[in-house]
Amino acid sequence: MKEGSQKNITSIISQDEAGICQAVEILRAGGIVALPTETVYGLAGNALMPNVIDKIYKAKARPLNNPLIWHVHSLEKALTLFDIASLSEQSYKRLICLAQNFWPGPLTLVCKKSPVLPLAYDTVAIRIPKTAPTLEIIRRCDFPLAMPSANLSSRPSPTTAQHVLKTLSGRIDAVFMGDHAEGGLESTVVLIDDRVTILRPGLISIKEIQNALKETVNNEVTSHKKILSPGTRYLHYAPKMKSVSLNLVNDASKFFYLRPLIIGRNIELDQLRNMAGSSLADFIDLSNEPKIFARQLYDAFYRAEEYKDRHLILILPPNHEEWAAINDRMKRAAGLS
Ligand code: TXA
Ligand code: MG
Repeated sequence: MKEGSQKNITSIISQDEAGICQAVEILRAGGIVALPTETVYGLAGNALMPNVIDKIYKAKARPLNNPLIWHVHSLEKALTLFDIASLSEQSYKRLICLAQNFWPGPLTLVCKKSPVLPLAYDTVAIRIPKTAPTLEIIRRCDFPLAMPSANLSSRPSPTTAQHVLKTLSGRIDAVFMGDHAEGGLESTVVLIDDRVTILRPGLISIKEIQNALKETVNNEVTSHKKILSPGTRYLHYAPKMKSVSLNLVNDASKFFYLRPLIIGRNIELDQLRNMAGSSLADFIDLSNEPKIFARQLYDAFYRAEEYKDRHLILILPPNHEEWAAINDRMKRAAGLS
C-alpha cells in the first residue's frame, strides 16, 4: 500500500478489560494492532507468522531489510528465543544483568537467535515493555509480538493513539486507545555478543548501562563503523515540511527571512522570540528538562505539520549525555545521519 491509500476500517479499542480481550482476539486471528508502550506506540502482530509480518511491513511501507523487535512478557521467554549456548559465561551474565536491571522497560537486547527461529538474520532483538495493558496482552498471547513503531516508515514515531491514526488509519486492524507514551522516545538497542555495543541510543542512557554492568561499552552510534542496526540507516522521524534543518540557536536568526517554524528548548526560544517578535517566526516551545523534552518531541513534530508549507528549524540541544537520544532523533529528522 502506498502512503495515503486506505484499505480497511481501523477499529478503536478501549483501554479496559474488554479492550484487552479484543486486542488479544485480533492478534490471535493474525491481525495487526497498535499498542501503547512506555517508549512509543508499537504496531503489534504475531512474530512467528510470516503473513502477519508481511502485513506489518506493508502497513508501514517499511524497507524489508529492516528487522523488527520482538516483545515478550518474561525473561524466561526471551531466553528461549536467544541462542544462550553461543554466549560466553561473561556475556550471559551481562545479558541477565541488563535484563534484570531494565526489564520491563525501554531496553532492547540483541543476541544470536535460537537456531529454531525462522529468521533470515543471525540475531533477534527482544524487549519486555512496561505499559500494563500491553504487557497483559503479550502475556495472554502465547507467541512473541513483533512491534515496530506504529507509524509509516520515515515519519515520526507516535506517542499517542491519535498520532497512530494520522499515518496508519485504514492500514491496520485496530488501535488501542492507551495513555500518552510516558518516555516519548524509542528504546535503547544493545547488542550482546563477545562484547556489549550500543546500536541505537534511547531512553536508557549509556551511563545507566555502564553503571549496571560496571564496565565500559562500545558505542556504535559514535564510532561510525559498520552499521549493525539496519534501521539507523534510514531517514527517520521526519515531519512533512518544506524543509527541516538543525541549527545552533545563535545561527537561527539568519533564517528569519524565511519566516520559519522553530522547535527548541523554551530557554532558547525566548531568546529568539525577543529578536523575531511574532511576525518573523513561529515557535513550538519544549521543556528545558531532557526527560520532559523527550516526551514532547514527536508530538511537536506532528504539530509542526499544521505549518507544512513552512521551513522547520530545530534548535540543537546541549551536547550532553542526557540529551544523546534526543540529539540522535533531531539529527535524523533533519536528514543528517
Ligand atoms: O521503543 C521501541 O523500541 C519501539 C517500541 C514499539 O517497542 N519499537 C521500535 O521499533 O522502535 P522500530 O522497528 O521502529 O525500530 C527497531 C530498531 C531498528 O533500528 C532495527 O534496525 C533494530 O531495532 N533491530 C531490530 N532487530 C535487529 C537485529 N536483529 N539486529 C540489529 N538491530 C535490530
Ligand atoms: Mg520506528
